[in-house]
Amino acid sequence: MTSLTLDTIGLCGFGYRFNSFYRDTNHPFVAAMIGALGASMETRGLPLESLIKKDRERHLRADILYMNEMVDRIIQERRAGDDDPAGKPDLLSCMLSGVDRKSGERLDDLNIRYQVITFLIAGHETTSGLLSFATYFLLQNPAVLARAYEEVDRVLGGDPSMAPTYAQVNQLTYIGQVLKESLRLWPTAPVFALSAYKDTTIGGMYKMKKPYQIVVLAPMLHRDPAIWGERADVFDPDHFTREAESRRPANAYKPFGNGQRACIGRQFALQEATLVLGGDCTIGIGTVAGHLAAGEQVGLVYFDTHADLNVPSSVREGALDWMGLAHMLGEEGAAPELVNIGMRTPLLQADQVILFAWGSEQATPFERAVIDRRDISVIPVVEVASGPDQAARRARELIEDRFDRLLVHFDVDVIDFTDVPLSENTGRNEGLAYHHAMSALQTLLASPRLAGLTITELNPDHAEQDAHSIERFAAAIGSGLASAPAIKHG
Ligand code: HEM
Repeated sequence: MTSLTLDTIGLCGFGYRFNSFYRDTNHPFVAAMIGALGASMETRGLPLESLIKKDRERHLRADILYMNEMVDRIIQERRAGDDDPAGKPDLLSCMLSGVDRKSGERLDDLNIRYQVITFLIAGHETTSGLLSFATYFLLQNPAVLARAYEEVDRVLGGDPSMAPTYAQVNQLTYIGQVLKESLRLWPTAPVFALSAYKDTTIGGMYKMKKPYQIVVLAPMLHRDPAIWGERADVFDPDHFTREAESRRPANAYKPFGNGQRACIGRQFALQEATLVLGGDCTIGIGTVAGHLAAGEQVGLVYFDTHADLNVPSSVREGALDWMGLAHMLGEEGAAPELVNIGMRTPLLQADQVILFAWGSEQATPFERAVIDRRDISVIPVVEVASGPDQAARRARELIEDRFDRLLVHFDVDVIDFTDVPLSENTGRNEGLAYHHAMSALQTLLASPRLAGLTITELNPDHAEQDAHSIERFAAAIGSGLASAPAIKHG
C-alpha cells in the first residue's frame, strides 16, 4: 500500500516516478521519512539532549539531507526540462508559477522544497494506512466483502483486463462507505491538537485558557455511543448510508482534522472525491465553496439549459453529475458529502442564483417545483436566443447590484450539439446556437465583478470531425478572460 500511495502522490503531485513496484524494498525516501519522524517524536528539547543523543542526531541529519536532496533534484529537473516548468497540471507547477495576488510574492525553491516534502509525507502514509485497515476489515467481515465484490463485479464487469472508466468509479458507492467506515474506527491521523486564541469557555461548560492545548482523539469521538449508538465499535459501512449521514451532527466525524489547519489534502481529496462521486458538473460546488471560504459575497450565474436541481431520490438515474445546484442550495435529499463541503451549509441562498438560458421543457417536475418554491430567478433560453447580449447584461445587473463577486458556471451542453459538437452529452440538441452562447458568455465575463468561471461537460473527442471547434472555443474563452476587467487588473 505504501508503494501504491507514494507512487501516486509522487506522480500526480510532482510528476516524479518513485517506481516502487520495480524494487524489492521500499524506496529510500520511506526509510528517511520514518527515521526523521521517529527522531522528531522522541526529541524532548531538553538541555544537552543533542549531545547525549549524538547517534540519533546524526541519523536525523542524514535522513533530512536525503529528503532535501531528492526533492531539490525534482525541482531542478522540472526547471531544467524542455517544457514550460509551470505547464504541467500538477502541484509542483502551481508552486513554481503561483503568485500571491495581494503581495505579488512567489514561493522560493527552499519553500517549495519544504512544501513538497510535507505533501509527500502527509499525502501517502495516511492513505496507505486507510487502505490497509479497509482490507483488514473486509477480510474480517465476509458479508461486507461479498457486497463489495458484488458492487465491483456489477459496475466494472467480469473482465479484469479492462481499465475502469471514470463513470464506473463514480458508481462504487458501497466501496466509498467501506473507506469512510474504516477511517471512523481507525482514523489514520488519529490525534490533532487545538489551542485557544484567548481564554474561552466551550459550550458554556469547558474552560480553556490561552495558550493551553486540547488534544482531540478522533477514535474516541468516532466511537462515542451517544452519537454512534450501541454499535459504535462495530464495523458497519451502513453507518455511512446517505440517510445515516444526514441524521448525524457534522462534527461527529473528523478524520481530516478541524478548522483552518485541517487536512489541506482533504480539499484536494474532496475535490477529487467530488469528481469521483459526482462527475464534472459538481466542480462548481467546490468553486463556490472556495470563494465563500475567502469571505466573498458571491452571486452565481448558472449558464445551462438544465437547472441541475434534482436530488438522488427525485430521478431514477441517481448520477450526482447533474445535481450540482441542488447541492449548493442544500435541497432536501441532496447528498451530505457534497452539501457539507464548504464552510457554511447551504453554500448559497436561492437569491444568489440566476438560472441563465434555462429550458423549461428539459426540467423534471421536481426541478420546476424547486424553482417555484424557492423563487429562483430565471432568464429563459428563448430570451437568451433572441438577445444574448441583453440577456447577459440583465443577469449581470441582477448580480452586480447585490453582490461583490460574480461566478459563472458554463455547461457546454447549453450549445446545440448539431451546431458545434463540443459537449459530452450528444443527445441534448435543444440548446443555443454557438455564436449566441459565446456572445452571452463574453458579456458575462466582461463584468467588473467577475471572480470565477467553471466550464463543464466539454468533450474534445466529440469535436474530432471539426478539429478547429475546440481551438475556437478555447480561444474565445481565453480572450474573454484576458479582457475581463477583474482578471486583467488582478
Ligand atoms: C486518508 C487520507 C488522509 C487523512 C486521514 C489525513 C488526515 C489529516 C489530518 C487529521 C490533518 C490535520 C493534522 C493536524 O491538525 O495537526 C492533515 C493535515 C494535512 N494533510 Fe492530510 N490526510 C489524508 C490525506 C492527505 C493527502 C492525500 C494529502 C496531500 C495530497 C494530505 C496533505 C496534508 C497536509 C499538507 C496537511 C497539513 C495542512 C496544514 O497544516 O495546513 N493529506 N491530514
